[in-house]
Amino acid sequence: MIDNKAIIQQTAVFVQERLKNAEAGHDWWHIQRVWNNTKLILETEDADILVCELTALLHDIADSKFHHGDEQIGPRIAGEFLQHIGLDKGRIEHVQQIIFNMSFKASLGQVDFHSKELEIVQDADRLDAIGAIGIARAFHYGGFKNREIYNPDIIPQQKLSKEVYKNTTAPTINHFYEKLLLLRDKMNTATAKQIAAERHHFMESFLQQFYGEWNGER
Ligand code: ADP
Ligand code: NI
Repeated sequence: MIDNKAIIQQTAVFVQERLKNAEAGHDWWHIQRVWNNTKLILETEDADILVCELTALLHDIADSKFHHGDEQIGPRIAGEFLQHIGLDKGRIEHVQQIIFNMSFKASLGQVDFHSKELEIVQDADRLDAIGAIGIARAFHYGGFKNREIYNPDIIPQQKLSKEVYKNTTAPTINHFYEKLLLLRDKMNTATAKQIAAERHHFMESFLQQFYGEWNGER
């Protein structure tokens, strides 16, 4: 019988090893930030701490985007590992449910599983997609996909709004309007809502500055 601290520590080592060659948007540093966000949110929430921390650590263990759309691979690898280190069955299933519902179904708006623990880790993950880190991750992703940063001919500045542009080759600035600026209002917990409001404000300042510089203002 190992204690919770040891379970978390062993999981962190496992995840760090597995993500050694991960791309920068989903690398071990992303996991560390999400883990830290999770612990911060947990300070004011009543939830199963072990489930939350383990899920934060394991949530991007195998992104289906890089595994031919296999939505079960993340939960499966996480489950096998947790069984191996002796976590109870109930918690293993809970962690798997959260990982599954945070990725695929969530992106389709079809989440059919709810728990306090899911809300917490989802908030923690979403917080890492906004603010300064969120901006860095977006342009990193855009560069990885060889996208333009902004192109007023494709999307004129005045047309950028909260309207969703589902154009997969759109310049990276587009991603702010299709996702990043919408995340503030999707937060579940009080702590995340507060942090998200600040990070949202920072992104709006960034965009204002960006367009100013783009247009040669000083
Ligand atoms: P998650 O962290 O929830 O797994 P994703 O895998 O969708 O999120 O994206 C990883 C990172 O890449 C996030 O910071 C996200 O904002 C960014 N990203 C995803 N799609 C795009 C896009 N089309 N343009 C720019 N950045 C993107
Ligand atoms: Ni993530």
